Amino acid sequence: MAASAEGRDERASPVGRDDDSNEQEVNPWSVRGGEKGIDYAKLIEKFGSQAIDKELLDRMERVTGRQVHHFLRRRIFFSHRDMNAVLDNYESKKPFYLYTGRGPSSEAMHLGHLIPFLFTKHVQELFDIPLVIQLTDDEKFLWKDITLEESYRLAYENAKDIIACGFDVDKTFIFTDLDYVSCEPMFYRNILKVRKCVTFNQVKGIFGFTESDSTGKIAFPAVQAVPAFSNSFPKIFGDRTDIFCLIPCAIDQDPYFRMTRDVAPRLGYLKPALIHSTFFPALQGPKSKMSASDPTSSIFLTDSPAQIKKKINKYAFSGGRDTVEEHRQHGGDTAIDVSYQYLSFFLDDDEKLAHIKEDYESGRMLTGELKKVLIDVLTKLVDGHRERRKAVTDDVVRQFMTPRPLNFDKSCK
Ligand code: TYM
Repeated sequence: MAASAEGRDERASPVGRDDDSNEQEVNPWSVRGGEKGIDYAKLIEKFGSQAIDKELLDRMERVTGRQVHHFLRRRIFFSHRDMNAVLDNYESKKPFYLYTGRGPSSEAMHLGHLIPFLFTKHVQELFDIPLVIQLTDDEKFLWKDITLEESYRLAYENAKDIIACGFDVDKTFIFTDLDYVSCEPMFYRNILKVRKCVTFNQVKGIFGFTESDSTGKIAFPAVQAVPAFSNSFPKIFGDRTDIFCLIPCAIDQDPYFRMTRDVAPRLGYLKPALIHSTFFPALQGPKSKMSASDPTSSIFLTDSPAQIKKKINKYAFSGGRDTVEEHRQHGGDTAIDVSYQYLSFFLDDDEKLAHIKEDYESGRMLTGELKKVLIDVLTKLVDGHRERRKAVTDDVVRQFMTPRPLNFDKSCK
């Protein structure tokens, strides 16, 4: 099976802290950029992943016969581990699957949370492969001031938003840890196998845990690791351990999977492949954090058209000049303009985006006009999501969340 690491040293520094300046911090619980936002090239270096380069994108297009998604064309997904092995698998018609997840800490998901799910949906359709989605209600109970009942309830609410992205019920299994650990013995067995391999020193190094962290936290990473092993899903894959896994996520989740890739060979399992996205920035700009508890920091999937308009007009950091005259003369700066950056995530038409960039940078387009384009794009996106979510009944959720066989070609040719 072609699932080996692609050459780089995976021993990265703990949790992506920037030791030189102490500026940049990226880990599953904290994302903080330096003066100019997050330096993604530095993260690749520190985490020991690989940049998504033109050669890889060309190969993806050759292998799939389709233009790559605009998230890849614009390097919104910018880093990977073992994507060439994924393409080898596809070319040799070996089965593989996708795994991604969500930590249910809030009722409403923001636009940033949507990025990995939209991309995962695209990849699922592209390769026609099964997908498992983990809702870590246990993780949120351990990290947040929240009861088990509440995080379990939020997991089901978030499942509705995830289903509303348009996943295929015949190929997708969604589970909460609280449910799955009690109904699938293989899941817990794999968790124990991982825990036996990982010492406190190792999780301290990878995640920055200290001696005052609860043992719940220290033991949790194994739970996020094991969906990357195909025999954790006997209803889908039987007892097979040779079905390769690809994990799309933002780069903050990478520490979990560095650990997973480290223990996999010791358990006789395959290392999962990863594809990492950058972060969708907060309205106030990439230096500040988008937070589910701060409604002014982002657009939520529950926001009304009036809220979207107000938030963008009032809070979206502008790269425009102080006066119209100055703006007409010198133009705006798209590199720091949040409205432009949001469009680069959600406006898939390359030509239209290039025109907007040209017009804004030359001063022909004013900040208010740029914001109006964004308001239209996001209102349409969020309204469409709201409509699809309304159609997600409890029965639909139950179908997605029932452990069952999925529809895919299991033969290993
Ligand atoms: P959570 O709920 O923090 O985030 C869910 C997914 O969204 C990504 N993400 C973002 N992507 C782009 N821009 C942002 N601003 C942004 N904020 C969050 C996260 O990287 C994640 O992919 N522990 C996980 C849940 C989980 C998981 C997984 C995630 C369990 N298994 C496997 C990815 C893959 C969590 O709390 O995610």
